[in-house]
Amino acid sequence: MRETELMKQYEEETGNLAIIEGEITSKYRDWKSRKHKQKTKEKRKQELEQAQKTSKKIKEQFDQGKKVDKDYDHLIVVENLHKTYLLGTTAIAALRGVDLIIDKGQFISIMGPSGSGKTTLLNLIGGLDTPTRGKIFLEGKNIAMLKDSELADIRRDKIGFVFQFYNLLPQMTALENVMVPLHFSGKLSKRGKEKRAMDLLSLVGLEERSHHTPSELSGGEQQRVAIARAFANDPAICVLDEPTGDLDSKTGIQILNLLRDLNQRGATFIAVSHDAAVAEFATRTLHMRDGKLVREGKVAGLKETDIMELERKKDAQINKEKCKNKIYQYLFKNSGKKKIKIANISKSIPEPILKNLPIHFNDILKEIVEDGVIKGKVEKDVLILE
Ligand SMILES: Nc1ncnc2c1ncn2[C@@H]1O[C@H](COP(=O)(O)OP(=O)(O)OP(=O)(O)O)[C@@H](O)[C@H]1O
Ligand SMILES: [Mg+2]
Repeated sequence: MRETELMKQYEEETGNLAIIEGEITSKYRDWKSRKHKQKTKEKRKQELEQAQKTSKKIKEQFDQGKKVDKDYDHLIVVENLHKTYLLGTTAIAALRGVDLIIDKGQFISIMGPSGSGKTTLLNLIGGLDTPTRGKIFLEGKNIAMLKDSELADIRRDKIGFVFQFYNLLPQMTALENVMVPLHFSGKLSKRGKEKRAMDLLSLVGLEERSHHTPSELSGGEQQRVAIARAFANDPAICVLDEPTGDLDSKTGIQILNLLRDLNQRGATFIAVSHDAAVAEFATRTLHMRDGKLVREGKVAGLKETDIMELERKKDAQINKEKCKNKIYQYLFKNSGKKKIKIANISKSIPEPILKNLPIHFNDILKEIVEDGVIKGKVEKDVLILE
């Protein structure tokens, strides 16, 4: 506004003159300065309101782009996932646009050369790290939109991790390491936690090493502790980075059999592995290269590899011998009896032996009688001794 117009406004507002005897009055000067400050304040306020409006709009657009939830039926949906690590001024593109859908109960194996982004992909799916770009939906929920505490709850209750380098707590014993996730879930009493952890350790064949710390265990044993720990809270999703890496082939197969049992009970597995046995075992095999999924090999279902079949048959044969010994023990205890119900004999055989025989129990009993080891005959469901 021009000075003359301002003076006019002053004179109209206050009824005073702006110029007396050719001099600008100090009252006018004060008025002008107040007016100026007021105007600046108003302008600032307007600017601030405008900025707030713009930032709200940007946030809304951003959130809309991220989409809070999707009515996905799939367990996991990965959309255009990118991850770039910054090392000083160098950017390393570890993932460069991964799209992937995983359904409940699948057993996925991921293969690929070192540095192709396998561990990075697992960490992102497991909510341990955040993507640079792209989205991950877990049961339809965008994990980027979850609060840290919500994500921690999901990690604790739904996801079991077996890390490439085990990540066991060095000061704690094997038992205590397995108890850590049980402690966080807070569902069991101290004794309940101990029992559960001990059961898990015997599941991986380590009940006798429960009081050893990681430094007192071999690589394969540490890996088995890590596997027991991953299963502690019965996770719906198991993320495994090289689960059989440090295991000899027999233990590797035992672990794979364990994974298969859990998988058949409904848990979903995503396993990174260089081990061909794992790939043969999986329902889907994905191949990664330079941060991308390049190829997917499909297989019909859970398959048994040749070596697994061999081990199973060997175990079955051993069980047959154990079963025969148990039969002799039973007959010795019941010597004097002439007629014995076959069901009563089979009841005396421990479940794991009975369930894993190469032939039916009744046929084993017939074999013994036919070989003349015991004198008598099998009639329907009764053993008649001479
Ligand atoms: N925290 C990190 N900071 C910087 N770069 C990283 C980081 N983690 C991984 N990288 C880089 O990202 C790329 C992918 O790494 P990633 O560990 O996912 O590969 P990988 O397929 O699991 O390899 P390996 O088979 O050797 O375990 C590599 O080039 C790696 O050097
Ligand atoms: Mg890796």
